[in-house]
Amino acid sequence: MPILGHRCFPLKCCCWVVAMLIAVHTGTSTQEFCTKEESGGCEPTNVYQKEDIKVITVATDDNHGLQRFLRSAKVYGIDVEVLGKGKEWSGGDMNYAGGGQKINLLKEKLSELMKLENKNKIILFTDSYDVMFIASLEDIVKKFKSFTDTRVLFSAEQFCWPDSKLAAQYPKTEVANPYLNSGGIIGYLSELFEIVSHKPIKDKDDDQLYYTKIYLNKELRQKLKISLDHNSAIFQNLNGALSDVQLKTNTTEDWPYLENVATKERPLIVHANGPSKLTLNNLGNYLAKSWSIKEGCALCKEKRVELKDNELPSVMLAVFIEQATPFLEDFLQQLIDIDYPKGKIHLLLRNNVEYHETEVDDFFQAHSKEYATAKRIKPSDFISEAEARNIAKDRCINSVCDYLFAIDSLSRIKSNTLRHLLSSGYDVIAPMLVRPGQAWSNFWGAINSAGFYARSADYMDIVYHVIRGTWNVPFITNCYLVKISVFRVPAAKSITYSKEDVDPDMAFCTSLREHGIFMHVSNELDFGHLVNPESYDISRTHPDVYQLFDNKIEWEARYLHEDYATSLQEGNKPLMPCPDVYWFPLMTKRFCNEWIEIMENYGQWSDGSNNDKRLDSGYEAVPTRDIHMNQVGLERHWLQILKEYVRPLQEMVFTGYYHNPPVSIMNFVVRYRPDEQPSLRPHHDSSTYTINLALNTPNVDYEGGGCRFLRYNCSVRDTRPGWLLMHPGRLTHFHEGLRVTKGTRYIMISFVDP
Ligand SMILES: *[C@@H]1O[C@H](CO)[C@@H](O)[C@H](O)[C@H]1NC(C)=O
Ligand SMILES: *[C@@H]1O[C@H](CO)[C@@H](O)[C@H](O)[C@H]1NC(C)=O
Repeated sequence: MPILGHRCFPLKCCCWVVAMLIAVHTGTSTQEFCTKEESGGCEPTNVYQKEDIKVITVATDDNHGLQRFLRSAKVYGIDVEVLGKGKEWSGGDMNYAGGGQKINLLKEKLSELMKLENKNKIILFTDSYDVMFIASLEDIVKKFKSFTDTRVLFSAEQFCWPDSKLAAQYPKTEVANPYLNSGGIIGYLSELFEIVSHKPIKDKDDDQLYYTKIYLNKELRQKLKISLDHNSAIFQNLNGALSDVQLKTNTTEDWPYLENVATKERPLIVHANGPSKLTLNNLGNYLAKSWSIKEGCALCKEKRVELKDNELPSVMLAVFIEQATPFLEDFLQQLIDIDYPKGKIHLLLRNNVEYHETEVDDFFQAHSKEYATAKRIKPSDFISEAEARNIAKDRCINSVCDYLFAIDSLSRIKSNTLRHLLSSGYDVIAPMLVRPGQAWSNFWGAINSAGFYARSADYMDIVYHVIRGTWNVPFITNCYLVKISVFRVPAAKSITYSKEDVDPDMAFCTSLREHGIFMHVSNELDFGHLVNPESYDISRTHPDVYQLFDNKIEWEARYLHEDYATSLQEGNKPLMPCPDVYWFPLMTKRFCNEWIEIMENYGQWSDGSNNDKRLDSGYEAVPTRDIHMNQVGLERHWLQILKEYVRPLQEMVFTGYYHNPPVSIMNFVVRYRPDEQPSLRPHHDSSTYTINLALNTPNVDYEGGGCRFLRYNCSVRDTRPGWLLMHPGRLTHFHEGLRVTKGTRYIMISFVDP
């Protein structure tokens, strides 16, 4: 693979910036412009106003790179003339040699200027798609003038490109950037015109080679006083220089800047030549007054547009369920909850998981009529994910919708997310979603040469909200909004989710990068998070119950009793139905129902005899009909419930007893029913304290039942599902299980000891 020199874009139709400095009257038109020729007593107030300058670039396409370039110019009050706008690019594939067209367009412009204007005018010419101004013209010109004996200054880089054999002909190579790069040129009109008209060049020929040959011609070099900006005093080419260039964001200065630590310069124009494009996308998040510690994301504020309720754009909501997903019910609910009129939404609901099909079907039957249009893709359609995503995109392009909002079932977003993204003003933007407590997110800050994940310097700061903003990144997934007009240009026809051996979002993002379309992720607000499907085991009954570790937010919301936290509040007096027997709400009714169903589906209740193979001793003195948690794979989960939710309650009521984590060898569900084992004879538990969680409801699911503490002649009969009784074990609370006369009673028991 050849080392790419100054080449900028991986685009076929390319363009650049020749930034010539044109009479940039920064002030009003009445401002006097003084040049040597015409300075008759006019007293300019500073260097900048003295100069006659034109800034020129070439750009045949209007794209995000050009927009970024022009914005950076605007930020510093720089007027740029864009040559070649709307013209066919005939300068070759930018990944290879080419770009002669740039010189031809420049030549045409300069010959015009030669006729009309001051020959001593300064011309600044730069590429555009991969260039940003990071300083004012005043600073640029001042720096240019500090080069001695120089009439034309070219930017310089580390690679001799496109013809490395020419390296030997360079006058000196003991500098940081020995070789000419054609992406940035500043010089006087007369000399620059002589350079571009020295010889004819074909549009397809290489511009950098052309300039290099002139530079290597000693006679021409000396006559035209051509120098190279070896130290990046003005032009910073990024290719090969990434370890020399540092972005300073957290300084006493108002705005971030670049520093070349090798040359001790602060470059004024940055150019992402060769394969360094994505680095500029990252730097561009900060530079040109885009973001600062003090201002936050200034660029975000600049881009934000108002959403008018009477002219809301129409959105294709493309939903993808590609893998078995924990808490899918919440996901479907969140689709309903999106704060946007459903009449403005075209729904495409794609499910590729047979396990979820009933639930998805119910959702679709219940809600599809509310949307402008609704379409489904079912597992039985045998459509691949990439195809399904292409269908959504193409439907959107071909129909009336303005935006594609793609969301997969792992995404959990707040209801205002869509509106926020729509009003962000960015064409391609994802809300940042992160797996809670992990650095796993729906974007990559950087990619490696193979196109896979790499960590950017700011990745962790973004993920952990140390900094907030909207960030140009090379990869987004799970949930994102695309303004469909970016797909409507002819070149975008080839954007696709299908690529061999690559997953669809990778293919899509690669495609966008190749088309020079910028992707963003926003952490301006907290938009939501990602669920983690890794341990989701749909061979289980109620697999969501098993998700305590990996999807705790959803798990707590569904299963932890809504009044649980109230018990822990200062001054809260827990219920005590019998002496030293405390009563707390712990789990929801839904938890109890699912817990019972897990046991009943497993079905292997013990036989109630004293022989119990599950115990080390093989002997149970006070046997019940029960199932141990380790039999249904819930031991670890239940112990976590004890540690995280039960222990704090215990520490409140039995003060001075601290064991973290609590040790409990016996954790089991007991079933009482009249025809099996209806009651349990009085006994002491072999525990320090016992918890007894009611799983169903007296007088509804069963009759009779309850727990009687003999020493106090006190019974608890009106137990409530999800509420636990907590009482001392082996010493004081001799107790019995009261007879169930009808139905089935279930309780969950733990003996915590010591
Ligand atoms: C900026 O620097 C200060 C002091 O070094 C540090 O405390 C602060 O966290 C930094 N801010 C960011 C956003 O990195
Ligand atoms: C136990 O309580 C019940 C009802 O509360 C009462 O009828 C009974 O006499 C009590 N027994 C003793 C031994 O106090």
